[in-house]
Amino acid sequence: MSIIIKSTSDIKSSDITSKSVYMDRRRFMQQAFASSLLLAADAMLPVWAKRWPDPAQAPFRADDKLTSFEDITSYNNFYELGTSKTDPVKNAAAFNPRPWSIAVEGECDKPGVFDLEDFIKPYALQEYIYRLRCVEGWSMVIPWVGFSLAEMLKTFEPNSKAKYVEFTTLLDKSRFPGQSRRVLNWPYVEGLRIDEAMNPLPIMAVGLYGDILPNQNGAPIRLVVPWKYGFKSIKSIVKIRFSETRPKTTWNELAPDEYGFYANVNPEVDHPRWSQKTERRIGDAFWKPKQKTAMFNGYGEQVAQLYTGMDLTKNF
Ligand code: MTE
Repeated sequence: MSIIIKSTSDIKSSDITSKSVYMDRRRFMQQAFASSLLLAADAMLPVWAKRWPDPAQAPFRADDKLTSFEDITSYNNFYELGTSKTDPVKNAAAFNPRPWSIAVEGECDKPGVFDLEDFIKPYALQEYIYRLRCVEGWSMVIPWVGFSLAEMLKTFEPNSKAKYVEFTTLLDKSRFPGQSRRVLNWPYVEGLRIDEAMNPLPIMAVGLYGDILPNQNGAPIRLVVPWKYGFKSIKSIVKIRFSETRPKTTWNELAPDEYGFYANVNPEVDHPRWSQKTERRIGDAFWKPKQKTAMFNGYGEQVAQLYTGMDLTKNF
């Protein structure tokens, strides 16, 4: 299998998007966004959005061609904004992700409730280019802006009872019209085992393509866990809870035979209603054959050891 992750030291300078190209893209996006926030002058951007990283510093970069900004932001799963792929972009402007606060609770020594700006401030923002493989059989390659989940969790000093981390999406029908329909048991909840959460790969994302996170992609802050099916990457997070017991997660509770708690990308374990062996890369020409799905979405070198001795056909 080709190497799909590079550390910064492996990256050729020819691979790196130059800062001027990046800044042009950023300017383009500022013009293109309909969102009032992004149409506003730079002065109105949140403080943290003014310290975007240099893309050359990307700690993990998938080699694959990036999915276009348009595809990433117009083909979405975000049931709070509607159940079809095109609903989230249509309903995005009506969702106001400000003000925003995040509560950190449970088995840790430094819990608290934080305004988004204060929450993000301590962490180094970096670009992470990750492949996202949806359980439905499509995938994208997304240049996120975010920070290490592990670094963030450590600052709250989880105690020895913290075996899992649970994440919860905002529950507010007035801001999320989709929550008026009982298609899911709201609020959306996801979780990770603490050692999975402490792996260097998962991030809290606050932006993509060098700009703040579009509403339909989970503004203002979401999780990204690249070796798991996309439904683990919960959007618009308002609560993080350390717990001793395994969190009851939305899709797993709804259909445990179809959506496991682990949800590791695994071409050898089919979904009961379809194969997981291949995937369609969003943006590829319709005649292009589907590509093979890689174990752990190709991140096995970083994460396979987390599951040593586990039967992955049972713990899917
Ligand atoms: N988070 C919330 N709160 N609600 C959702 O419906 N959908 C999940 C995940 N996070 C979802 C969510 C699914 S199924 C996928 S594939 C990814 O978000 C899609 O992320 P994207 O739209 O940014 O590509």
